[in-house]
Amino acid sequence: MQVHPIAKNILTIYRENFGGDPLILRAPGRVNIIGEHTDYNEGFVLPAAIDKASFVAVGKREDELIMLRSEDFHEVHEKNIAALTPSKDWTTYIMGVVDQLIKRGYPIHGFNLVIQGDVPMGAGLSSSASVECAVAFALNELFQLHIPALELIDIAQKAEHVFAGVMCGIMDQFISVLGKKDHVIKLDCRSMEYEYEPLVLKGVKIVLFNTNVKHSLASTEYNTRRNECNEGVAIIKEHVEGIHSLRDVTPPMLEQYLRPMYKTIYRRCKYVVEENIRLLEACEALKAGDIRLLGYNMFATHDGLSKEYNVSCPELDFLVDHVRDIPQVLGARMMGGGFGGCTINLVKEEFVDQLTANISKAYHQNMGKELTTYIASTDDGASIVHY
Ligand code: GLA
Repeated sequence: MQVHPIAKNILTIYRENFGGDPLILRAPGRVNIIGEHTDYNEGFVLPAAIDKASFVAVGKREDELIMLRSEDFHEVHEKNIAALTPSKDWTTYIMGVVDQLIKRGYPIHGFNLVIQGDVPMGAGLSSSASVECAVAFALNELFQLHIPALELIDIAQKAEHVFAGVMCGIMDQFISVLGKKDHVIKLDCRSMEYEYEPLVLKGVKIVLFNTNVKHSLASTEYNTRRNECNEGVAIIKEHVEGIHSLRDVTPPMLEQYLRPMYKTIYRRCKYVVEENIRLLEACEALKAGDIRLLGYNMFATHDGLSKEYNVSCPELDFLVDHVRDIPQVLGARMMGGGFGGCTINLVKEEFVDQLTANISKAYHQNMGKELTTYIASTDDGASIVHY
């Protein structure tokens, strides 16, 4: 059995620093084929877990201390379980999970933890969710808490809300825990019902181009969008019965109640309502093997995110515009929360190398920055690493 090199490394570090044999767990990052900014509007998403993950090695302590060691940041932090507060560094994602467990009355005490991962940070691939999920999963195992998967997902999401201050939806944590290799999940974020769909892309690769920028607007604008959507719902609710979220809103309602007086809110809500429609069509296209139609919808998603939802940036727009008219690129769009991170591209296999070379050069020339490329492979959700 092959043990992942990161798992091996944190095992060694754990033994050297704390002694004994830890539990090792991993939780992956994700891509999202389509369905962006829909999760917190009770819509649909279509993510897949990828073969990049956060790994944690954990073991119990006899006291109330939490010793955290990051091999990515080369830092050691000591915390006391009796005094948990959010911080501005990486430990907040871990302590946010501890805080949730305590608030929910789960019996945990001190522990040692070593963490390392290969989900690129700030790339829109959910590195923070992968940390939260790996930690939630690890503490569940370590203290034998028997928390079901859906509650672990909720714990990880609330950790992000309360300790990182980002009012994220459920997509990232959900896929990090429940993802399945070679599959996407079609998740209904209202009912939390989900289906695994085989990800069959015959001769087409999922290529991620990382802008290597993360504009500081990201988290504040994210929360602002969420509020704008809620405002739209509140306005329509005054006129129409039975409206709980943008999921219940139809295009004619947007025209009638928002367009005349609320220009910005109208554009935000229009994007979300249309994105749900696009996702359902894209999902059928994927099932039917019509990757071109799927890709067409991805381009439309990008345009909506860029022009109506206003969460793109010049770097992301440049990358999507660059591939728009290339026949071997079936679809492309910005992915995740926005204001930086990656674009996701569906590219004919034989064209990947040529495209990567061209676009990297063009990106450097036009944006003055380096581009990083990843070919995404799918993987399973959170799991114990046996060694
Ligand atoms: C971030 C959030 C998700 C989702 C996406 C946008 O990744 O964590 O919940 O809202 O942005 O689709």
